[in-house]
Amino acid sequence: MNSAGIAIRSLGPVAATEITGIDLAQPLDEQTFAEIETAFNQSGVIAIRDQKITPAQQIAFSQRFGEIEVNYNSGKYGLPEHPEIYRISNITKDQKPIGSRRTGENWHSDMIYSARPPRATMPHAIEVPELHGLMLGDTAFANTSAAYDALPESMKLHIDGMEGIFDFASRTRSEAPDAATVKRYPPVQHPIARTHPFTGRKCLYMNRDDCTGIAGMPREDAEALIVALSDHVIKPEFVYRHKWREGDVVIWDNCTMQHKAILDYDLPQRRLMHRMTIAGSVPV
Ligand code: SIN
Repeated sequence: MNSAGIAIRSLGPVAATEITGIDLAQPLDEQTFAEIETAFNQSGVIAIRDQKITPAQQIAFSQRFGEIEVNYNSGKYGLPEHPEIYRISNITKDQKPIGSRRTGENWHSDMIYSARPPRATMPHAIEVPELHGLMLGDTAFANTSAAYDALPESMKLHIDGMEGIFDFASRTRSEAPDAATVKRYPPVQHPIARTHPFTGRKCLYMNRDDCTGIAGMPREDAEALIVALSDHVIKPEFVYRHKWREGDVVIWDNCTMQHKAILDYDLPQRRLMHRMTIAGSVPV
């Protein structure tokens, strides 16, 4: 525990740091924020417990990490008074869903299909489903740096300088985007062995649902490599599974982590996350 009463502790060997003793409804001094940001950069996922914050306070906190990115579907699932906050939920109001139910059900890194994918994603758990005392609706995280480090040296050399191709239009989404959104995200290329912009660590930046090819490589060879690397990233030794508690503010790093929502709940078990996305840099 530091002098301000904040406790930062690891939640396991793979990733994730728990932070307690902090109230994000109060102004955050520079030093405290620097400690949070260091924990975030090092572990890839941080869980700040017990937060009773308003949407405006969540927005203010997320702006400490960078510029806010507004989801293309915010007109439908953004909070009416704060469209920057996107609702992930299975709850309905007047027989209409208030949020996106199936967001993130496959392994992915957020918006990997964009030229400048987001640095971080920050949901605030408003309602967490529970059945017979068991919390449901976990999020699983896979540490792409640990996965890269564990590759044989020959594979690291093989993929050095390779670029994956990511095409927003190529995959079926739970919410079909309109033509303007598809136009906004033309196919892009990113390094498969991406260098983390803050730590300098290498991350395996690809997943089988979003990576449609490898620049300059014949299709069949590329498909085999994409599958092999994508399966490697999500091996159990690189995975941390977050059990949500109401009030958790979880922030994950979209370079160091891939993630996947576990859809093991249904009404009357309710889940509601207020999610924010923070802009990032062009991958190198
Ligand atoms: C996401 O991929 O942003 C959703 C994760 C979750 O709801 O667990």
